[in-house]
Amino acid sequence: MEPLVLGIESTCDETGVALVRGNELLADVVASSMDEHARFGGIVPEVASRAHLEAMIPTIEEALARAGHTLADIDVVAVASGPGLVGSLTVGVAAAKALALGLGKPLYGVNHVIGHAAVDQLVHGEFPDRCMALVVSGGHTSLLLVNDIATDVVELGHTLDDAAGEAFDKVGRLLGLPYPGGPHVDVLARQGNPTAIPFPRALTKPKDLVNHAYDFSFSGLKTAVARWVEACEARGEDVPTADVAASFAAAVSDVLISKAIQACREHGIDTLVIGGGFSANSQLREAAAHRCAQARIEVRIPPIKFCTDNGAMIAALGSAVARRGVTVSDLRMGVDSSMPLTTIVE
Ligand code: KG4
Ligand code: ZN
Repeated sequence: MEPLVLGIESTCDETGVALVRGNELLADVVASSMDEHARFGGIVPEVASRAHLEAMIPTIEEALARAGHTLADIDVVAVASGPGLVGSLTVGVAAAKALALGLGKPLYGVNHVIGHAAVDQLVHGEFPDRCMALVVSGGHTSLLLVNDIATDVVELGHTLDDAAGEAFDKVGRLLGLPYPGGPHVDVLARQGNPTAIPFPRALTKPKDLVNHAYDFSFSGLKTAVARWVEACEARGEDVPTADVAASFAAAVSDVLISKAIQACREHGIDTLVIGGGFSANSQLREAAAHRCAQARIEVRIPPIKFCTDNGAMIAALGSAVARRGVTVSDLRMGVDSSMPLTTIVE
C-alpha cells in the first residue's frame, strides 16, 4: 500500500493539515488567522506565528479524526519549509520535526509554491509526463516547466515585482475595498466592461520578450490604475469602479494566459495546470478556459478550496516525493523564507 502522508502548511496565515495516500485526499483541515490581520490591512507576522502555535495541535487532531486515523498510522511527515514568513514556517517545521522524531518516520521539507501545482493531482489525477504550471498567489507568480513534479521542475519565469494577487490587493485598497482586496476586485470586475480602459500589458513587447518572455510585471499596471483613478477624480467625475476593476483584471489575466500558452507552445506541452490563491480569480479562470480551448491545451485548475493555502497541497507533494523515493530531509533542516523553485525537497 502507498504511504500515508501527513502534510503541514504554515507559510503565511493558514494552518493547514491534511492526510493523503497516493493521490487520494483523506482529510484536509485549515484554520486561518486572517480575521486577526484584516484590521491592519496586511499580515502581521508575529500575530500569524502565534496563531499557528495555538492552532497546530488542534488542526492535526481534527485531520486525523476526520480521516479515521491515529498518529501511529502515519508513514511520512511532509511540511512546507519555504518560501514564506520565517516565524510562520518555523512553527510548522518544528511541529513536523517533533512528529517525525517521535514517530520515527521520515520527514520531507517541501516547497510551498510547487505544492500549489502538485495539489491538482489529488483532483484530476497524476500529471502527464510533462506539463506547464502557472502558480499565482499573493506572494508568487511563476511559470514552471514540470518534467516531474517530484524531481524535475524548471522555473521559466516569474514576476519581477508584484505578484498577481498582491496587485489585486493593492488595487482593491485603491478602490476602497476591504482587505484582502483580491476577491472583492474579482466580484466588482464581473459587473464592469473589461475593454473600457486600455491598461498596459507589461513585458509583452517584442524587445521585452528577448530577455523576459516568461517574466511578469504588475507594479506598472497598478500605478497606471492609480493614475487613471486620480485623473478621473481631478476632473470631478465619479470613478467607474466596476470598469476600472474589469479592465485591470483583464490586463492581468491576458498577460498570464498569453505567456502560459506561449510557453506550452514553445515546449510542445498540451497541459496547463494553474494553482495558487489567485487561481480562484474568475477572470483568470474564464480567460484560461476560453483561450486554452482555442490553443488546444488542456487546462487543469483545482477547485477554489485547494487554490488558497492548505495542507492538501503539501501532503500531495509529500506523497509524490515519497512514492518516488526522493532522499528524505535532515532533521536539522531549517526554514527558507525565499526558497528557490529549483528546490522541491529541502
Ligand atoms: O496562495 P494564497 O492563498 O496565499 C499566498 O501564498 O499568497 O493567495 C492569496 C492571494 C491574495 O492576494 C488574494 O487577494 C488573492 O490570492 N485572491 C484573489 C482571489 N482569491 C484570492 N485575487 C483575485 N481574485 C480572487 N477571486
Ligand atoms: Zn500560497
